[in-house]
This record gives sequence, structure tokens and C-alpha cells, in this order.
Amino acid sequence: MVSRFRVPTAPGGLPFVGHTRRLSHDPLAYLRSLRGAGDLVRLRVGPRCVYLVTCPALTRRVLVDEARSFDKGAMFDELRLGMGNGLVISGGAFHRRQRRLAQPAFHPARIDGYTRAMTRRAGERTAAWQSGVTLDLTRELDELTLDILLDTVLGDSAGAVREDVLRWLSAKSGVMRRVLSPLSAWRARLLRPGPARPLPVTEDTLASLRALLAVEIHRGRLAPVGGGTEDMLSVLIAARDPDGVTGMTDAELTDELLTLFLAGTGTVSAALAWAFAEVSRHPAMERALADEALRVLGGPRPATVADLPELQYTERFLREVLRCHAVWLLMRRTLTAVELGGVTLPPGTDVYLSPDILHHDPGSFADPDRFDPDRWLAERREPGAQGARGAYLPFGAGNRRCAGDGYAWAEMALVLATTLARWRLVPGPGNRPRPRVGTVVRPERLRMIPEPR
Ligand code: HEM
Repeated sequence: MVSRFRVPTAPGGLPFVGHTRRLSHDPLAYLRSLRGAGDLVRLRVGPRCVYLVTCPALTRRVLVDEARSFDKGAMFDELRLGMGNGLVISGGAFHRRQRRLAQPAFHPARIDGYTRAMTRRAGERTAAWQSGVTLDLTRELDELTLDILLDTVLGDSAGAVREDVLRWLSAKSGVMRRVLSPLSAWRARLLRPGPARPLPVTEDTLASLRALLAVEIHRGRLAPVGGGTEDMLSVLIAARDPDGVTGMTDAELTDELLTLFLAGTGTVSAALAWAFAEVSRHPAMERALADEALRVLGGPRPATVADLPELQYTERFLREVLRCHAVWLLMRRTLTAVELGGVTLPPGTDVYLSPDILHHDPGSFADPDRFDPDRWLAERREPGAQGARGAYLPFGAGNRRCAGDGYAWAEMALVLATTLARWRLVPGPGNRPRPRVGTVVRPERLRMIPEPR
């Protein structure tokens, strides 16, 4: 049993809704304020109790030491209805097997190969911008990151699924809102739940997308092994279990492809959008990034994988972007009774974790609200930036750590350097980047005008 007296309850709860009003109005400020309330804090979503972890040590216990005692929780149950059991969603032995089979697709040598799509797409898209014409930069980045991912995953067949993937990605948004909705929580508590169904719009879109992916998987299976195909789907098809014979079924491959479309697009485009939002707020940093890009690239050409080791300020800048604009909420649910912070949580308890809270802890990062890429210089010796305390977790930790972190770092650096070597982006009319909170936090209304350098 959880001892109600030992876990502080977060301030600001209301009858019926619990803490959801606070969580929906400026959730980042609210969550950050809870660090002072305790290492483990109790919140209510309608009638449902959830436990929020606010310190690095307990975060590590949940994500790493006790990882096998948790699954991912209610949001992922809902996602599973439409998306199947891909890496982000699955659990237990099945997840371990899928993760092992997927590992070769994320090997650093493979990622080097995928960067060709990043270089080409970033070069093409930024070359098509017109001087003086205002860009909806968030949308540009959504499309760019989607095109890069589809090229990576499906190679020449990317165009065949693009429209369906776009439709599906926009249809399934809002899942985080539903999980944090007090109404949904009360409905689940009071009404006998009928058979769970995904949203109808998602169902239609998914059926069509799954049919297209079945064609691509069939085509991939017929392609000669080692026929020079470099796309991720070919690597996933070729992966074998330890018996050397079996591999992923068509259904498993489809689920993993859907998972990659979800996990590998909005996350990167949000991070890049924040990078450009910070560029627009800090002219001296913009200058430093552009100077570095021009020095390394020698002019306005697309950056390649060979340029990455020299883009060191760009790397520090992006580290800081992912510190200041991290994933705000990770979710877990206990599978067995788990002792955490001196209390025992029964099976089925929701536990929330927040890289964003850890990244804004002054014990780990000096003056944490300040955007300062140079805090990542070794001589500054900031504990959080030097890896101490496990306080920097933009990609999570443990057995569920992001599979695409190397991919994401390369993509962000190549897109940022390619863009800034060609264009100076100045804030356009209506540019008021404000955080919009979904499964990730992204800046809305990022309107920039490209001017040639
Ligand atoms: C800046 C970009 C990205 C960020 C901030 C990010 C963040 C994360 C985080 C925090 C997790 C762990 C979630 C949890 O513990 O509940 C995760 C998982 C995952 N990410 Fe990423 N991600 C990014 C880009 C990508 C890309 C580009 C891909 C694929 C190409 C990808 C694929 C995955 C997968 C497959 C998982 C599930 C891993 C598992 O559970 O085994 N991510 N990501």
C-alpha cells in the first residue's frame, strides 16, 4: 500500500478535476514548481492518482534499475489500438526481442548512410526558399523531417506513402490530452468500458496506410539480399533471431514502421523548431553558428556527415536546445509492487517522469532558465553537463532509451548548419513562438524570413 502521509500531494488540486487544470495551463511552469514539493509527488487526474518523480535518483530507479517492473501505461494502451505493438509501445520479452532485431538499423555505420538523405533533403528544401518571403518554419521542418525519415526508411518508395503518413500523423494527435483528461478518467472509473476502439478517422487512415506498407514489405522481401539497398526497412527485414532463421513477421514490421513514423518525425522537427526559435532570440549565437557553418562548409553548400566532427559549437547549441526544450512527460505503470522513495506503489500505479524538470534543476545546471550553449564546455564543469547525477535525459534512459538518438543528433546538426550557411533567418510578421504542449512541446507561430548571407 502507498502511505498517503509520506508522499506529498501537489498543490493546486481541485475537486473533480484534480490537478489537470494546472497541468493543462502552463504545464511546464507547474511541473518545474513541483520539484520543491518532494522527490515523489502525488497528483490527481480526475479520480486517478499518479505519482510524479522529480529527482534524478528516483528517475534512474524507474527507468534503469527497476525498468522491468514497469510498462508504459495508459497512453500506450490507447496508441496500441491503432498502431500495434511497435518498439515505443511494446513491453517485456517481446520488446527485448524487437529491440535486438531493430538494433542493426540504428548502428552508427548505418546512420552515416542515412545522412545522405538528410544532406540531400536539407539542401533541396532550403535552396527552394525565396529571399524575403515569410516561412511558416514549424511546417517547413515538419515536412523536411518527414521526408528525411521516409527516405531513410523506404528509400525510393517514400513518395508512395507520404500523403497517408501525413494524414495519419495529424489524425492521432491529441492522445496526450485524452490521457490527462479528467473526463476520460472519470468515464473509465464510472462506466463499464466497452471494447476499446481507436478514433474512426484514425481507423480509416490506418487501414490505407497499412495496405501501402504491406506492398513495400512484400517488395522488400523479394529484393536480393545485399543488393545494395541501404534503407531501414531492408535492414529490419534482414534481421534474424539468434536461431539465424526467423525474423520479424509482416505484421511486426508494419508496427515498427508506424512506430518509426511517429517517433522519428515530430520529435526532431520540434527540437529543430526550438533551435531556430533560440537562433531568433540570440543574435550573437546566430552569428557564431553561421560563422562556424561557413568556415566548415566553405560556403552555402549542404552539410554532410564528414562535416559533423567540426561543427562543435553547433553541437553545444543543440545540446542546450534539448536541455531547455526536452520531452516534458514520460509515463510508466507498475507491473508489480514497487518500492520507490520509501513507499510501496501497488501494481497498476501510474508513474510520471519529466526530463524537463531534471533539466531545470539548479543543483545540476547553473542558472537553469538561461539558454547558454557554453555550459557544455568541459572547463565550465557544470555537474549536469558533465553527465553527473544522471540529470540530462533528452533521450530517456535504460532499456527504453531512444533508439534514434544518433540519428536525431546527426539530422539536427546537418539541417541547422545547412540552413544557416545559406540564410539569415529574421523574425517575420506574427512571429511569436509559444510552447504548444502535446506528446512533445513545440513552438507555435514560428514565422521567419530568409535573407541571403
Ligand atoms: C530530438 C529528437 C528525439 C527525441 C527528443 C527523442 C526522445 C525519445 C525519448 C525520451 C524516448 C524514450 C521514451 C520513454 O522512455 O518512454 C524515445 C524512444 C524512442 N525513440 Fe526517440 N527521440 C527523438 C528522435 C527519434 C528518432 C529520429 C527516431 C527514429 C528514427 C526515434 C525512435 C525512437 C524509438 C523507436 C523509441 C522507443 C525505444 C524503446 O522503447 O525501445 N526517436 N525517444
